[in-house]
Amino acid sequence: MPTLSARLLDRLVPAFDQLDPGADPVLRESDRADFQVNGAMALAKRLGRAPREVAEEILAIADLSGLVSSTEIAGPGFINLTIADEALIEQLVEMGDDEALGVPADPEAGVVVVDYSAPNVAKEMHVGHLRSTVIGDSLCRILELTGAVVVRRNHVGDWGTPFGMLIEHLLDMGEAEAVQGLSVGDLNGFYTEARAKFDADDGFKERSRSRVVSLQAGDEETLRLWRLLVAESVRYFDAVYSELGVLLEESDVVGESYYNPLLDAVVDDLDAAGLLVDSNGAACVFPPGFTNRAGEPLPLIVRKSDEGYGYAATDLAAVRDRVGTLGAQRILYVVGAPQAQHFEMVFAVAKMAGWLPEGTEAIHVAFGNVLGPDRKMFKTRAGGTVKLQDLLAEGTERARSALLERGHDDDSLEATARQVAMGAIKFADLSTDRQRDYIFDWDRMLAFEGATGPYLQYAHARIRSIFRRLEDQPAAGGILLGHPAERSLARHLVALPDAVAATVESLSPSKLCTYLFDLAQHFTSFYEQCSVLQAPDEATRASRLELCELTASSLRLGLGLLGIEAPERM
Ligand code: ARG
Repeated sequence: MPTLSARLLDRLVPAFDQLDPGADPVLRESDRADFQVNGAMALAKRLGRAPREVAEEILAIADLSGLVSSTEIAGPGFINLTIADEALIEQLVEMGDDEALGVPADPEAGVVVVDYSAPNVAKEMHVGHLRSTVIGDSLCRILELTGAVVVRRNHVGDWGTPFGMLIEHLLDMGEAEAVQGLSVGDLNGFYTEARAKFDADDGFKERSRSRVVSLQAGDEETLRLWRLLVAESVRYFDAVYSELGVLLEESDVVGESYYNPLLDAVVDDLDAAGLLVDSNGAACVFPPGFTNRAGEPLPLIVRKSDEGYGYAATDLAAVRDRVGTLGAQRILYVVGAPQAQHFEMVFAVAKMAGWLPEGTEAIHVAFGNVLGPDRKMFKTRAGGTVKLQDLLAEGTERARSALLERGHDDDSLEATARQVAMGAIKFADLSTDRQRDYIFDWDRMLAFEGATGPYLQYAHARIRSIFRRLEDQPAAGGILLGHPAERSLARHLVALPDAVAATVESLSPSKLCTYLFDLAQHFTSFYEQCSVLQAPDEATRASRLELCELTASSLRLGLGLLGIEAPERM
């Protein structure tokens, strides 16, 4: 069944077409009525006619029967539409019969590669990686539901000059010892020690340098040690992922090193296209439109003067591979805003080289910073990187106390505490428009009131408790929308597909967060005004229970799309 807005457009488009082929009705949700059609004004301008008159003509031509119960022309030519109750009911019935609750899957959505999380080997994941992981995970889930074939790519930093010193440090410590330290997740300690030795000890520095050479030359023993470092880090990342409940798996790890064998082809392609310019021994491309502060053209360095390849080369190879081999129509890079210029340049060069042909697109899904209560970058008290595992553990502990305080005392406490903590962290992150910074604030994100994960989880659990109290099976009847609170809940329920579509469009899960929060509020006001279990008659009771059921399902589905679990009890 098409969504309500799709059904409306089906009726409106022919009317607009009749006046001016291809004219867009510009359909919007509205608080005034249910929908507002804003396209009459632009159309009137094009036709050189009075907008209200055009609006009237549209209404006279469009067949809105059965779908719209009343219309009104407002202001300079807005058309307000009120949806007929029977149309809302039809939508609700269809929704109830559909696992996706009416969210349509677009058969043309194509292959989307999502590059997210991407922590660095032998380095602690920081809150930037947390954001990337949480946003990326949610986008993958949403894109999958809407029909895309999603390929997850965890582009871990597993290659480069630091591996010389890391491997030498590993040898100094002794393999067993080093692995022991890394397996408890002390990645930063390991890295910092290696770095300190590198800076202080010339002999170590020399060994590190020649180790890099062996690594690049593919020396078997060196590769074995490198793999050890990678494996221990990936194991640690996986522990964080499973704690967080994100869908990233080991098979999604396709790190920078994967592209090593593809780098020569990148250079060859660029060379053949006549794009390579030598700049002090480095092979560069100068995409038009990029300049430094002095106004000089900015190079994207493909191969450094020491013949080594860097971050940009790997990203070029990745675009080439993702489109050329994986068949991506779209590539999303869920990476912090500070890397905006890097991606703009990589995408520009990829286009020049023909790796992003017509019909394909690369998008930097940028996000802002996580700030501490002091509005500066979120750090530990000592000024270090916040260890993600510690952060998640602290959240779970805090959620546990909050649940205990609320009288939660059954044996699901531990599991629920984890679900609530992850829900709180994820919702706080996802509900802010992704471009903006946000302040990491435990008390706010864990509150059971306001736009928080726990509030929505609680709204869901509260509905589930209604069904637990139900003694009999309600008669299967139709849905009745006699009370205004029932109708506004219904109206909001059927808008789920539009909220999902808006999220896909903006690639910002905050749209879905807003929708779910509003839904929970509509439900609360319905529940305050309309008795469910004590409804005046059996038909009303059955109908209200159906509305409860649809609300719970929508909350569960919506939270699921954010990667947030919906416990049955809280
Ligand atoms: N490893 C990088 C970092 O920690 C992020 C990589 C993002 N993805 C990419 N294709 N460049 O900043």
